[in-house]
Amino acid sequence: MTNPYEAAFEQSIHDPEGFWAKAAEDCHWYKRWDKVLDDSNKPFYRWFTGGRINTCYNALDYHIDQGRGENLALIYDSPVTDTIRKYTYTALRDEVAGFAGVLRAHGVEKGDRVLIYMPMIPEAAVAMLACARIGAIHSVVFGGFAAMELATRINDAKPRVIVSASCGIEVKKVIPYKPLLDSAISMSASKPEKCIIFQRSMEKASMATGRDIDWSEAMTTASPADCVPVAATDPLYILYTSGTTGQPKGVVRDNGGHVVALKWSMKNIYDMDIGDVFWAASDVGWVVGHSYIVYAPLFKGCTTVLFEGKPVGTPDAGVFWRVISEHKVKAMFTAPTAFRAIKREDPKAERMKQHDLSHFKTLFLAGERTDPNTLHWAEDALNVPVIDHWWQTETGWAICANCMGLHAFPVKEGSPTKPAPGWNLQVVDISNRQMAAGEIGALVVKLPLPPGALPTLWQNDDRYVESYLKEFPGYYKTADAGFIDSDGYAFVMSRTDDIINVAGHRLSTGAMEEVLSDHPDVAECAVLGVDDDLKGQVPVGFMVLKAGVSKPDEEIVKEAIRMIRDRIGPVAAFKTALVVKRLPKTRSGKILRGTIQKIADNKEYKVPATIDDPTTLDEMEAALKDIGYAGARKT
Ligand code: COA
Ligand code: AMP
Repeated sequence: MTNPYEAAFEQSIHDPEGFWAKAAEDCHWYKRWDKVLDDSNKPFYRWFTGGRINTCYNALDYHIDQGRGENLALIYDSPVTDTIRKYTYTALRDEVAGFAGVLRAHGVEKGDRVLIYMPMIPEAAVAMLACARIGAIHSVVFGGFAAMELATRINDAKPRVIVSASCGIEVKKVIPYKPLLDSAISMSASKPEKCIIFQRSMEKASMATGRDIDWSEAMTTASPADCVPVAATDPLYILYTSGTTGQPKGVVRDNGGHVVALKWSMKNIYDMDIGDVFWAASDVGWVVGHSYIVYAPLFKGCTTVLFEGKPVGTPDAGVFWRVISEHKVKAMFTAPTAFRAIKREDPKAERMKQHDLSHFKTLFLAGERTDPNTLHWAEDALNVPVIDHWWQTETGWAICANCMGLHAFPVKEGSPTKPAPGWNLQVVDISNRQMAAGEIGALVVKLPLPPGALPTLWQNDDRYVESYLKEFPGYYKTADAGFIDSDGYAFVMSRTDDIINVAGHRLSTGAMEEVLSDHPDVAECAVLGVDDDLKGQVPVGFMVLKAGVSKPDEEIVKEAIRMIRDRIGPVAAFKTALVVKRLPKTRSGKILRGTIQKIADNKEYKVPATIDDPTTLDEMEAALKDIGYAGARKT
């Protein structure tokens, strides 16, 4: 007997058009699609070609038209400003229509890009939805990036308008955003025509006459804009994510497939119904924030919680339980690192006892593999299923999950369970041959990818093909390695490229190496992700200096740390670097990154047969011990 998950999965693979057409019936279309899956231009597959849709209509107006205008759409909970503000669907639609009118008044039309650089305030979601309303393409940039990263994104997306705020708040620190924005604009070749700035009371931004517009003033005279029907295949947003170089990849999301897949996922993966409260404790700057703070909960008619705070320190490790209880959250989504932070401060989950969590049904974790300790701690403390699920900025929603709305499988520690319907996940070796159950290989997805996944990279079809489709013809390369066991459970073990995961944030060590190589005294360098109890991984930099450098090592280390903070941003959490005489290499000159990483993490390793000089490994171990790695903490 098949269960509903198996039936859905089978149909999604063997009859994807039938499967997704049925899901699309649940969405509002101005014009139905001509073709569900258009494969006329392989390897570029498109969903719902010929269809016309509006994402904002599906998120807001649709529910009002169905008589649910007074339902709560969004709850803003901000312990850092001591604010709770609630928006009904009608109230949020009115704000969004008003801001869409502001954008329109400043020349933004369908297809124009709008860059959004905002903290976790409702205006960030309003700006995103306002773009969707008029068919403009938003590109949200995470607040923890430095001006230079912002400049790179401005140069690539070429926004007509930038929307920002005067500041963000990091626990108790006020972070002025406007100086970063001004500096990014001065660095970038592409200049926005206007910047619309939301002034927060704790920091007033200085405004550039003629360019900068005050959000609140503009809203007082705005005429609301209505939804503009767009092609299902038109881009909704660009979200930049770390690639293997300093040049981030502009992941494109389209309108039609995105609405269909995300609305479907709310019930089938997260088991959420109309009126239920969903909380993704992430940031609108990440894909989780796009998909599950803003879009999917609203498509489904749920209430979404937008939380401006941290799991600890705002004010304490009980804040997650307070939010869950106060807003009657049914399911929450966050990264395991958030739970490790709570566990560290409140190991016995004492603070949970002060709150009624009876409405809470499921905890979903993603962003990094859920480690068994965190899994069991959360299961024991919360007494609800704790579901690890695996996805990427590129995929937009889960590749693997325990689909709670279809069939709840037993949880296996270390596994995000099974491929979600739509994802034909395979494990292959370097020759693109399928591996047997239990054997580790490259995790790849047979094309076509389901709706909601990236159709390409922004104005860069070649890089899309090169990065994802070329290595394993016929498949999308996830760049994760892992295996599928004999029960069909997937296990995601590691990245196959230079990406590391720091507190659930995706970062490129290659990009950090590019920065360190720019230090005038550095001859060569390597940046590796090493294990960290809280953040999962943190970057550590190794620098070999040029001959004749007389500056003290400590000074160079400080400068290197400062350079990464200034050029990539505080989110890189780059706090450790060391000067070494040489780096362990193969005879052909390749740095033995994997071996160095194992030494740092105090894991067993084999001396590679190709090593140039084995004594470099002893030197490396001694250097790492000096700074508390390579088992030094345990002795
Ligand atoms: N704007 C400006 N600065 C930011 C920022 C933002 N939006 N977000 C983070 N930063 C800064 C922090 O202030 C910190 O700076 P510091 O070096 O001056 O202290 C740095 O970037 C690193 O931040 P963070 O990764 O948040 O580390 P943390 O030590 O402050 O907190 C956790 C650790 C685990 C509590 C935190 O990472 C967390 O809550 N993670 C939740 C997981 C998550 O949101 N994942 C996203 C994908 S689901
Ligand atoms: P991002 O694009 O920032 O969402 O990061 C995606 C990467 O994070 C994936 O390719 C994985 O390496 C990692 N990742 C995300 N979720 C999981 C998970 N549940 N288990 C293991 N790795 C994960």
